[in-house]
Amino acid sequence: MKVTVVGAGNMASSFVKQLVKAGHDARIVGRDAQKAADLAKTLGASAVSAAEGADAEIIILATPFAGAVDALRALGNLSGKVVVDITNPLSADYMSLTVGQTTSAAEEIARAVPGARIVKGFNTLFAPVLGAGAVSNGQVPPVFLASDDADAKAKVSSLATSFGFPVVDAGPLKNARYLEPLAGLNIYLGFGAGLGTGIAPAWLPLA
Ligand SMILES: NC(=O)c1ccc[n+]([C@@H]2O[C@H](COP(=O)([O-])OP(=O)(O)OC[C@H]3O[C@@H](n4cnc5c(N)ncnc54)[C@H](OP(=O)(O)O)[C@@H]3O)[C@@H](O)[C@H]2O)c1
Repeated sequence: MKVTVVGAGNMASSFVKQLVKAGHDARIVGRDAQKAADLAKTLGASAVSAAEGADAEIIILATPFAGAVDALRALGNLSGKVVVDITNPLSADYMSLTVGQTTSAAEEIARAVPGARIVKGFNTLFAPVLGAGAVSNGQVPPVFLASDDADAKAKVSSLATSFGFPVVDAGPLKNARYLEPLAGLNIYLGFGAGLGTGIAPAWLPLA
């Protein structure tokens, strides 16, 4: 699949690693063109312009929530495009969420970029877990996906499966209101409680 990753940071690197390993056509759109080019070279992907980045079957939004809408809009017309929102709307100290309960980062992005087919997911995996495809003891955690668009969710599900992750269908996009706090708890456990970034939430039974 032709997949564009928007951003060139930790999550972008892990996505591109997985995309290249699974044989996808991985493209990076970075606000710092040199950084994107360097990352692409290191990982065997391509760095492309924002306009070229819009030409993809799936667009993965790997920027902070604060910059997400601007970064998406920079790609141009995203009507009908499948966009994976991995953001967690974190406070500056990472220990709470800045939106929730009556909305979510995913719903705010969907409202700001109408026409894009938003799928919430991957936000409960730390970058090292995403990159390795497993938590630190080797178990493979699930990817939770929430969307109002069944076809978009199926496409992103097939992407997650190509990386080796099982998928939990977490229902409509509104359920990002649950997935974002779930990631918040994971971040608390990883950083606040000192368990580290080799952990991930899972629902039993996994298969
Ligand atoms: N890190 C994790 O373990 C993890 C896990 C789950 C979900 N997430 C979520 O994934 C997203 C990315 O996290 P990260 O850890 O990869 O962050 P990061 O390492 O700080 O990378 C963020 C990337 O976004 C780019 N960016 C920032 N503002 C932008 C804007 N306004 N327009 C375009 N690009 C912009 C940055 O550009 P520059 O390169 O120019 O700085 C950088 O390449 C966040 O929403 C985070 O909540 C992270």
